[in-house]
Amino acid sequence: MQAKGLSRKQVLAELKKIRRRDQQYDDGKILCSMCTKPHPMAIKAYRLFLTSNLGDPGLFPGSVQLEEEVINELATLLHGKNCVGHLVSGGTEANLLALLAARNMAHVNAPEVVLPESAHFSFTKICNLLNLKPVYAGLDGSFRVDPLKVEKCVCQRTVAIVGTAGTSELGVVDPIEKLSPVALEHKVWLHVDAAFGGLVIPFLADAKLNFDFALEAVESITVDPHKMGMAAIPAGGIIFRDRKALDCLKTETPYLTDQYQYTFVGTRTGAAAASTWAVFRSLGMEGFKKVVGNCMKTTRLFAEGLTSAGFKLVVEPTLNIVSFRSNHGTKRLAEKLRQQGWFVSYVPRYDCIRIVVMPHVKKQHASAFLKDLTRIEKL
Ligand SMILES: Cc1ncc(COP(=O)(O)O)c(C=O)c1O
Repeated sequence: MQAKGLSRKQVLAELKKIRRRDQQYDDGKILCSMCTKPHPMAIKAYRLFLTSNLGDPGLFPGSVQLEEEVINELATLLHGKNCVGHLVSGGTEANLLALLAARNMAHVNAPEVVLPESAHFSFTKICNLLNLKPVYAGLDGSFRVDPLKVEKCVCQRTVAIVGTAGTSELGVVDPIEKLSPVALEHKVWLHVDAAFGGLVIPFLADAKLNFDFALEAVESITVDPHKMGMAAIPAGGIIFRDRKALDCLKTETPYLTDQYQYTFVGTRTGAAAASTWAVFRSLGMEGFKKVVGNCMKTTRLFAEGLTSAGFKLVVEPTLNIVSFRSNHGTKRLAEKLRQQGWFVSYVPRYDCIRIVVMPHVKKQHASAFLKDLTRIEKL
C-alpha cells in the first residue's frame, strides 16, 4: 500500500482505466456467460442496500423481509408450499447446502451421490468438501441423464440423486419426472440443480417441463437470480421443501444478533435480496415471459443461421443455449472467434461451441455474429 491516500478523482480515474480492460455486456460479444447485465432496478436496489449484512440478521430486519419474500416467490414459482431457503453466493453454495442437508439427514457411512455425467463442475468441489463419493450416471441420445442408469447407480450408501434443469453446457433438462419415482422407491433425496433453468422454464411459452416441487421426491432446488433473474451478483438461491433441512445446516453463532446461521458464507450482502426483489417487482410474470421469449427468439435466430451456414447443432435448443460444431475443426474455430473478439465457450466434452443467449444478447448481435462467423472460419 502506498504511504498516503490519493484524491477521489485520482482513484476514480485509475479505476475507470482498469475497468476498460473488462468486457462489457452491452457490446454483445459476451456469448459464453450465464450472468448478464443486471436489470436497472437491480442496480438501484443494490446501491440502496449496499451496507446490509444478512449474516447478522437482527441488525437488518428489512433485508431479512426481502430475502424471505424472494424465497417465497421463488418457491411459489417452483410449485412449492411452505418452503424455506436462503439467498446465497451462487449455484455452487446452493448445491453445497443441498447435498450437506441430504448427507446429514441420511446418516450413512461412506456416503455417495448419484450425478448425471453432465452435472455442473461445482459438484466436484462439493464432493471433495463433503467427502461424498460421486457416482456418475450416463446420458441418453439427447444428452439427458438416463433414469435407468441412475437407478443402477443407487445403493445403500446413496444419500442423494441430482438432476439438472438446464445443463450448463447444452441447456438440456433432465427427465426429473422419471427420477422422482426412482428417488421415492429408494427413499433417497432428490436435488434439482435449476441454477440456470429455474428462471427460464416457468416462463417458456410452449414447453411443459416437470422439474420442480410438483414432483413428490424433489426435496431441494437450486435457482440463481444472478443468472436469468437479472439480479446483481452474488445472488444464488437454495429452496428446501421442508424446514427440517435447515436444522441439518444450522451453526450456532454465539456473538451475533441471531442464534444460528444456515448458510456456508457468514457475512452476506442484503443487497442481493434487494436487487432480486426489485427485479421480481419490476417485471412480474409478464415481464419475465417477455425477457425469456426474446431470448428464445434470438436463440432460434442463432440456430437457424448456424444450420443454414452449414454448421451442425449438437442438439435442438430447449432453453436459451445453442451448441454447434464445425466440419473444419471446432476447437480451432473457437480460438479464432476469441481472437476476433467473440467470447464463446469451447466444450471439450462434446467438442462443440456453446452460445448462451442471455438478455444482453440481442437480435443484432446474433446477426453480426453469424455474418462474421463464415469470414472467421476461412481465416
Ligand atoms: C447448472 C449450474 N449449476 C451450478 C452452477 C454454479 O453457479 P455459480 O457459478 O453461481 O456458483 C452453474 C453455473 O453456471 C450452473 O450452470
